[in-house]
Amino acid sequence: MLTNEQINNIRSSVNIVDIVSSYIPLTKKGKNYFGVCPFHPDSDPSFCVSEQKQIYTCFSCKATGNVLHFIMNYENISFMDALKIIANKANIDISIGDTSKYLPDKNKKLFEIYDVASKFYQNNINTVNGGKARDYLHNRGFDDEIIKEFMIGLSLTNHDLLTKILINSKNSYEDMIKSGLVVKNNYGYSDIYNNRIMFPIWDVTGKVVGFSGRIFNGEDTNKYAKYINTKETPIFKKGELLYNYHRAKNACRQKNFTVIVEGQLDLIRVYSIGLFNIVATMGTAFTKEHAMLVKRLARDVVICFDGDGAGEKATLACGNELENLGITPKIVRLEDSLDPDEYIRKYGKNRFLEKIDNPISFMDFKLSFYKNNKNLNDNNDVANYVNTIVNELSRIDDDVLKELTLKKLSLESKLDIEFLRNSLNNKKVVKKDIKIVTNPVRENKYELATKYLIYYMLKDKKAIKIYNNSKVFIPNEKYRLLAKEISCFYLNNGFIKVADLMNSFVNDDDIIKLIGEIEKLELSDDYDIKKINDCINVLKQYTVNYETKNLDQKLHNTDSYDEKIALAQRLLDLKKEQSKVMEEKKYE
Ligand code: CTP
Ligand code: MN
Repeated sequence: MLTNEQINNIRSSVNIVDIVSSYIPLTKKGKNYFGVCPFHPDSDPSFCVSEQKQIYTCFSCKATGNVLHFIMNYENISFMDALKIIANKANIDISIGDTSKYLPDKNKKLFEIYDVASKFYQNNINTVNGGKARDYLHNRGFDDEIIKEFMIGLSLTNHDLLTKILINSKNSYEDMIKSGLVVKNNYGYSDIYNNRIMFPIWDVTGKVVGFSGRIFNGEDTNKYAKYINTKETPIFKKGELLYNYHRAKNACRQKNFTVIVEGQLDLIRVYSIGLFNIVATMGTAFTKEHAMLVKRLARDVVICFDGDGAGEKATLACGNELENLGITPKIVRLEDSLDPDEYIRKYGKNRFLEKIDNPISFMDFKLSFYKNNKNLNDNNDVANYVNTIVNELSRIDDDVLKELTLKKLSLESKLDIEFLRNSLNNKKVVKKDIKIVTNPVRENKYELATKYLIYYMLKDKKAIKIYNNSKVFIPNEKYRLLAKEISCFYLNNGFIKVADLMNSFVNDDDIIKLIGEIEKLELSDDYDIKKINDCINVLKQYTVNYETKNLDQKLHNTDSYDEKIALAQRLLDLKKEQSKVMEEKKYE
């Protein structure tokens, strides 16, 4: 176990600006650095990194933290693993053993069930019963090495083998059903998957969280679904994960581009010809969350979906989703309606890789997409087409691309380029600004005083001392805890540093967010003791009122004469105190 001091040393051995800017581009504005927040879907630069405080805060979502929280959230890893990465960068030797024990164990049972299941299925494919499945995969050109690498397995024809194994490894029926791998029926409990080739699906950290099971015995696809995916569970959300993400991460960052395909079979095929910077969606629409994941991998993106009409529509939707986050993807379209797997088998790996190296722009893709089924000799069709493209152009910033596209459009539509340029200029440009989301809930004066007080406490030890001596009671529980932690930190260290304080709240996201909220106040630097005392006085009023109410209640409820006298005396003292607070306020 590391001490707080060791953790703080590691944290302060790097500059947060250097680390964050190795993940996302930052621009300096005044004292701070700004970029596009990687923690919520956005294309505005509302993400602020303070070099002075060594923390980040997003003005739009509530993401906040120090460099360790950044790594933790960006890479989806544990605090200890983030610490390892930073220590490594700073050449600090730390020996922490197994870090998995630091993982939150809310879904531990589900992860364990998937671990057992995936080992079981993998084992099956290597037994005599797995002969046909292996033949099927070999015939499709996947060798044993790829089968092993992608942990491809097999569910057998018996209906309850996995169920039995899960029971033997002491899992409850409740957890088994929750996992989506076991179902209850009239005869008892049985496996969901029978006689299918099993592709495990990993979450972004590489843990198995689901399966896609494919038929392989020539079953009638009218009777049996070609693929059965695990149902959505707390650990498996198809709209939030991309197949092969954890494995592709390094390759994407090295090559600085990511290829996206539809479906795991296509991915495995492309991977097997040596292109490793690749992820896949799995039969679901491409979501905002997918786009955010892709954005974390690399700057450039190539979409290479199936060559059919559905693939074309999905390409447009995926490209738009990425553009919403400020990424302009490049597009590869495959001829003859082929998918990447079929294309590589038909035309060979080199022709496919060449296509990946020569994608078309998203705008060119749109031109051809919107021209589909249009007759450019028909004025209505031309008008429709031109309007659509001009609209698209009004949403982009690149002037050169605008001009080039207008030229093409002019040739195709036989409309004068000047005319097109004018109609583009007439479109209203929606200027993007940093959105600062202010809290719409009106705060009461106590809450405001608390926030200001804590703001000063985070800046200056004088404020901490005043708070400690005042014995005021902070109404809000979370703020109270925070103030207490600040006091403790100061007691232990003799100074206050917000970036290190944040290490005390690794598992309390709410408090980290509170600190972010408070840091966002950005009050002026020239405050004085009087301002701090103002806050304390407001809180004193609360404390006194609160106690008065309490005493009143007690006085009302007691029958003992002696107690009544004692309570009355204390009430009197409080009233004096109260008027003192009021007096102090009067002379300010
Ligand atoms: N899919 C699914 N359910 C289906 C069909 C497809 O969930 N009934 C998902 C799978 O993740 C699949 C992806 O959609 O990988 C693409 O489907 P498709 O193009 O039909 O399959 P291929 O990837 O071409 O797989 P194969 O070559 O084995 O047919
Ligand atoms: Mn296919």
